[in-house]
Amino acid sequence: MERTSHWQAVARFAAGAAMLAIGCMPGGDAGPPFKPVASIHDLMHDVIYPHAEVVWDSVGTVIDKDGTHEIRPTSEQEWERVMQSALTVAEAGNLLMMEGRAKDAGDWMLHASALIEAATLAVEAASDRDAEAVFDVGGAVYNACNNCHEKYWEKPPSAMRP
Ligand code: HEC
Repeated sequence: MERTSHWQAVARFAAGAAMLAIGCMPGGDAGPPFKPVASIHDLMHDVIYPHAEVVWDSVGTVIDKDGTHEIRPTSEQEWERVMQSALTVAEAGNLLMMEGRAKDAGDWMLHASALIEAATLAVEAASDRDAEAVFDVGGAVYNACNNCHEKYWEKPPSAMRP
């Protein structure tokens, strides 16, 4: 009788230890079960670039035979669109940091953070309906793209706008 309870106790202890071990195993409590869908190439080509373009194209100056034209968002809907795109670029910086995408834990993270920071300023500029500020931070966003490409994109960034 005593013997049986001893082995029952051992079994219970073993089960408890196994559960503790599972809790410490990768995948046990390693955080949310992220499932990256896009490759870095796809993320650049289909998410980051098109949305950065919306921000860049929203303000500027065009000179043609009729003179100089200022490009500005002209409706609430257009301003909303700039905000949505800036927000998408900012959050995409986080997607670049995910395991499986991040190329390293050093400079890659700094470049992705710089993108988040610049794009967040673009979100603020758009929500302030401040076209000058959107133009200025558009340049900062462009620099954030370029700085990372110089280090991590092997071919010259010819697909980028000048
Ligand atoms: C943290 C680093 C990083 C940042 C920030 C970054 N990129 Fe990239 N980008 C890359 C890498 C790496 C590649 C090469 C991907 C590949 O070909 O696999 C790339 C490739 C591209 C491409 C080429 C995709 C294709 O069609 O082959 C475009 C376009 C691009 N990036 C746009 C942008 C824009 C626009 C921004 C800023 C708004 C940006 N990237 C910010 C790392 C970055």
